[in-house]
Amino acid sequence: MKMWAGRFRQPLDPAFERWQRSFPFDRRLLPYEIAASRAHARALKSAGILSSPELISILQGLDQIAEQAASSPAFLHDDEAEDVHHFIEKQLVAIIGDVGYKLHTGRSRNEQIATDLRLYVRASIDDLRLKIADWIDALLSRAEQAGSAAMPAYTHLQHAEPVLISHWLLAYVEMFLRDAERLADCRKRVNVCPLGSGAVAGTTVALDRRGIAEELGFDGISVNSIDATSDRDFVLEFVNALTTIALHLSRWAEEMIIFSSQEFGFVHLPEAYSTGSSALPQKQNPDLLELVRGKTARIAGDQTTLLIALKGLPLAYNKDLQETQEPLFDANEATLAVIPLVTIFMKSVEFDYARMQKATESGFVNAWAAATYLVQRGVPFRLAHEQIGHAVQLCIERNCELQDLKLHELQEINPAVDQDFYSCLSPSSVLAIHDVPGGTAPARVQKAMKEAREKVNLLRENMHAHA
Ligand code: ARG
Repeated sequence: MKMWAGRFRQPLDPAFERWQRSFPFDRRLLPYEIAASRAHARALKSAGILSSPELISILQGLDQIAEQAASSPAFLHDDEAEDVHHFIEKQLVAIIGDVGYKLHTGRSRNEQIATDLRLYVRASIDDLRLKIADWIDALLSRAEQAGSAAMPAYTHLQHAEPVLISHWLLAYVEMFLRDAERLADCRKRVNVCPLGSGAVAGTTVALDRRGIAEELGFDGISVNSIDATSDRDFVLEFVNALTTIALHLSRWAEEMIIFSSQEFGFVHLPEAYSTGSSALPQKQNPDLLELVRGKTARIAGDQTTLLIALKGLPLAYNKDLQETQEPLFDANEATLAVIPLVTIFMKSVEFDYARMQKATESGFVNAWAAATYLVQRGVPFRLAHEQIGHAVQLCIERNCELQDLKLHELQEINPAVDQDFYSCLSPSSVLAIHDVPGGTAPARVQKAMKEAREKVNLLRENMHAHA
């Protein structure tokens, strides 16, 4: 039986009927729909709508649906169920008879879908944060292993200055720590219970809203029934957070792709995460990284779909809201799948420390350090910049580096230059002078790694507090 057929004289056009169903995708929400239905049933009993035997029978029926769904995927192939809410009602009545119809007393699918989606997003946030903690751990472990090895840092993808490889990896650690924090922050606004909001104006039965919320692990109840049944900004906020994660992953993937090219040769791709070419026998392609970069497009596309679906919708519930489900599921599933893969990839990729270090010896990555040398001898920075610029020009003509210039040549540029100038140009001296919090001087990086380790531990501890 449909949930709404009474006032209709004609059946739905089967093509329309099929097309408007959400069960093919919202069946993902079944565990949450069952949990919310249990809480609602208990509240109906407290409100005097259900007798004790009726409550027990409904709860047992719901249990049976959960078991059947878990043990037989075919159970969820139902061509009649309009959506997950209808499916449960249908199955419940099939198991326990007409008393099953009592479950829908005082509730609306409008509040149910809002609740199920909140429970789904909350569970995903908890899962994601755990996975992100492992991913950050992998990045951080590689940073800890990199020791004193350096690499060029780039601006405009041109050699800029040398940095410790660990400093570079810590940049990603920071991004993903922020992402985890963003999810935790989003969780606060997600974890609010809409049940009791009814179709739009609030339920007509004296339900204990707080009791329901507590049973479902919500931190509180929604304030306004119109808002609660029509709001999907928690979905948008969550998918925004996913888009930022994907964006960070795609920057990382892009760098790894570039670094694995023959021109750079900074990293060697693990064979287990690459594929070959059907035509070119020599190829080993960075497929995992390219797909990570590519997934960002679809996740950002999901975010855009949500934005546009919500824009201009009048209050309160409109069926358009059904269209927010698939972008949510898609973005969530894509992100959940990608993080364990990048984690394992990061554990297996090989860094060519020697080659990375070698790259710091060319491209004038010590020019700012050279100008700083002059500044320390009283030369105004703008002039020092100009003079070292001239020295670089000379080197370009001769195809050499600053350290290859003769002392007398340097002294012609500025007489303040002395023999000790050469030692200030070595990669280790250049690293050492970036001695500020957040800088790449080795002692600073050591401290940053320790602090990052503590943050990862804290992330894991907070996760267990939620679970
Ligand atoms: N499948 C619907 C959705 O995803 C559930 C809510 C239906 N509510 C309604 N008034 N038709 O939005």
